[in-house]
Amino acid sequence: MAISGKTTDEIILENRRPSSWKKSDVQGLVDSPDHSLDPRVFTDAELYQIELERIFARTWVFIAHDSQIPNPGDFTSSYIGEDPILVVRQKDNTVSAFLNMCCHRGMRICREDCGNAKSFTCTYHGWGYNTSGDLVSVPMESRAYHDAIDRNKWGPPKLAQIDSYKGLIFATWDPDAPSLSEYLGPMKWYLDHYLGRSPEGTEIVPGVHKWVMPCNWKIAAEQFGDDMYHVDYSHSSAMLALMPEGMDPALAQFPKEANSFSCRQGHACSFWKDPVFSNIQLDEDGHRWAQQEQETSRRLLGPRADEISGMNATVFPNLSLLGGASCTLRVWHPRGPNEIEVWSWALVDKNAPQDIKEQYGQSIVRTFSPAGIFEQDDGENWVEIQRVLQGAVARRTKLNAEMGVGRAKTDHPVFPGTINYGYSEEGARHFYRRWAEVMTADNWAAMPCEKEAPEQA
Ligand code: FES
Ligand code: FE2
Repeated sequence: MAISGKTTDEIILENRRPSSWKKSDVQGLVDSPDHSLDPRVFTDAELYQIELERIFARTWVFIAHDSQIPNPGDFTSSYIGEDPILVVRQKDNTVSAFLNMCCHRGMRICREDCGNAKSFTCTYHGWGYNTSGDLVSVPMESRAYHDAIDRNKWGPPKLAQIDSYKGLIFATWDPDAPSLSEYLGPMKWYLDHYLGRSPEGTEIVPGVHKWVMPCNWKIAAEQFGDDMYHVDYSHSSAMLALMPEGMDPALAQFPKEANSFSCRQGHACSFWKDPVFSNIQLDEDGHRWAQQEQETSRRLLGPRADEISGMNATVFPNLSLLGGASCTLRVWHPRGPNEIEVWSWALVDKNAPQDIKEQYGQSIVRTFSPAGIFEQDDGENWVEIQRVLQGAVARRTKLNAEMGVGRAKTDHPVFPGTINYGYSEEGARHFYRRWAEVMTADNWAAMPCEKEAPEQA
């Protein structure tokens, strides 16, 4: 998705209409000397249109997990921004992904969430597509089109690059985007603690929760990437409610030994050592399994396995996950500046016994799902923020994002990337800086990726 290569301060949209936002203004929204955020990043309708074109149509976006489409013909629907995508496993085990839009009148080619298919037929006039998205049949082709329609021309757009990292499948519309590995950079080291702690990797517990919330996608993505600060305050009653009887309530407080990671690419996570905090809602079998998992993890990841027992993380722009027993994997699909559609799964180790998978699945229902107690706490805050920011005065009143300024290190002996204390907004600052960079850069040379750190400890 090449952007017209202007070097002016103008942001040109795909339809050649200059945006009323200048590049320097967009950068100033999130990168100011006092480390403040301009609320319009969450509410402005035109910025949202720029996001769809410059962020979602250019970056690598999560579209599916391998375990959702294990067999040839398996498909799942997804979104990149507001564009519906169909993701299909091919006979040679590769993955195809294409716009789920029929180029006759724009109908959704496939209206199922998931399934197995040999082909797809548009329900409006019956144009037929193979599993890699080629238009292969047109009803009454002779009578209607006099055999003159060019089928090669009228298939849906296909994703330019598709790749996966340890089960997570990502895609980008941009043929010039760097490789997925480069895009993820040092974030891979942290993802490994979740995705690579057992030899078989992870799988999704069947089923997905989907719900709509009136808030901006970045509020959720930033919080999952970086915000440990809200945990003790927003979630304290929920944490206490989950604790087994007789347990010391102090154990429900956020661990003191906690750090945050962030990088140039805008990815971020917060992580901690304390396994009690990570697994507080599990029963005895669950704890036994977590312990066993930890030993396997040591074999695969070495001593670093003990450095992280739980984490919250965001892969820029809109994939988030939580480690430990709150093992949610979720996407914040944007639906306008003021709304998101959340798709959330439970992600577990593939080699876990069935009863443990079910326990993790139930744990997610209780904690991070539309009715989950942590989800309710977060959702209340996000929806209220979005309401407040609609006001004429509110939207010109700056927000403070200065926590931990000047305290980051990039030479930590164990942890790659930029490291700050758990209570910091280093990840948020990286996230918004990258947001502004991708919103304004005309090509990938102007938004380089931080390199993966050499293997440490
Ligand atoms: Fe799909 Fe007409 S819209 S066949
Ligand atoms: Fe939360």
